[in-house]
Amino acid sequence: MFSTRSAMTAPIELLPREDRRERLREAGYNPFNLASRDVFVDLLTDSGTGAMSSDQWAAMLSGDEAYAGSRSFEGLERAVSDVMGFEYVLPTHQGRGAENVLYGHLLSEGDVVLNNTHFDTTRAHVAANGATPLDCPVEEATDPALDAPFKGNLDLDAARGAVSEAGAERVAAVVLTITNNSMAGQPVSVENTHAARELADDLDVPLVIDACRFAENAHFVREREPEFADSSVAEIAREQLSYADCVVMSGKKEGLSNVGGFLALRDPALKTALKPRLILYEGFPTYGGMAGRDMAAMAVGLREAVDDRRVRARVDQVRSLGDRLRERGVPVYDPVGGHAVYVDAGALFSHLDRSEFPGQALVCAAYLEGGVRTVELGSLAFPGTDRPELVRLALPRRTYHDEHLDHVAEAFGTVVERREEVAGLELVTDPDPPELRHFSAELRPVDAGVLDE
Ligand code: F0G
Repeated sequence: MFSTRSAMTAPIELLPREDRRERLREAGYNPFNLASRDVFVDLLTDSGTGAMSSDQWAAMLSGDEAYAGSRSFEGLERAVSDVMGFEYVLPTHQGRGAENVLYGHLLSEGDVVLNNTHFDTTRAHVAANGATPLDCPVEEATDPALDAPFKGNLDLDAARGAVSEAGAERVAAVVLTITNNSMAGQPVSVENTHAARELADDLDVPLVIDACRFAENAHFVREREPEFADSSVAEIAREQLSYADCVVMSGKKEGLSNVGGFLALRDPALKTALKPRLILYEGFPTYGGMAGRDMAAMAVGLREAVDDRRVRARVDQVRSLGDRLRERGVPVYDPVGGHAVYVDAGALFSHLDRSEFPGQALVCAAYLEGGVRTVELGSLAFPGTDRPELVRLALPRRTYHDEHLDHVAEAFGTVVERREEVAGLELVTDPDPPELRHFSAELRPVDAGVLDE
């Protein structure tokens, strides 16, 4: 049995329903525009929102704030080497900073990037460099009701098909996002990682792993890939990352810190080539975008991330939220992912057309019923695709307790009971670029109903 006890607390308050409705209207029916004080249980993201351990807080006090040659950077290098097996580290302020440094160098106009599924900032960085992001998820991933072990995998046949269509010479990188955040937090198998490596070798391009949630992924590998049943999370993580030339990391996830990120590399020539971009956009190579104390906290966090007991407790908590929601009749994406429960809003609101943003309607209804903040990952976040209408309930690490999970399940249960009364939404503003519009778009209900009563 392993758990954590609270070493620090923060108050949260459930506003009266009237006030929640008013706040929602003021926010343009987009909970990204809500103040955190108006949110009771915040499941918007697992990114930078978790609680740090007392060892991490202790490390913060030892941060070396030197501009050049910081000891805290050396500690981060050692942690990345021990945990992930990479020699070179370029620190950045968060994951997208690492994406900017890497993809701005790797990509040129007309290139193509293959990915099991691009996360939104990855997609935006690829597009911003004039390249085309091509998603190659496995077919089974698009069926929220199908229980399969590795729905996060890259579809190799689809990827090879895309290569012959685009022309092999246009492909600049193969990327694996583990776990596959835009595909319901589903894991990628080590076998699939090996196959992706072969594809990258055939194309003579780098294999990049977006390793934001690498330990949760390793936990699923141990549960589901028989060859690894007796391996530790730490061993599996190192094995899986050993296939990559380069890791893009957001420390805000499984660096278990509130800010930070990095690129991890093997090739000294690539390190040299990336340095000018790192200095220009992030900072000097021994701090990147981070304070020394943040690097120190992340170094400890990375080691804690691969503690088998921590990952099991984490993934079990997410699964238990999924179970509670299912008990209330909420259609949950199967199987439950590593960092979040994804709800199939298309199935729940079968009376709403895709053009009426059923996912965003569910996000709004969940806030209205229980002050619960979640995020849409359907037709609002991914315009022009035919992806399922998913809503993500991401659990911050080491933060919420059973009583919060019960509250969330109850709020969603109320939405299920009143599902017919939930109206769809329409856009009032549709900001550019399309890949990032869901962060700031404003909407309104198309009809009176639960959201507007
Ligand atoms: N890659 C993946 C797979 C991510 O999930 C994220 C962030 C990033 C890259 C970018 O990292 O935020 O540190 O710049 N995902 C967060 C989320 C924001 O809510 O899923 P970042």
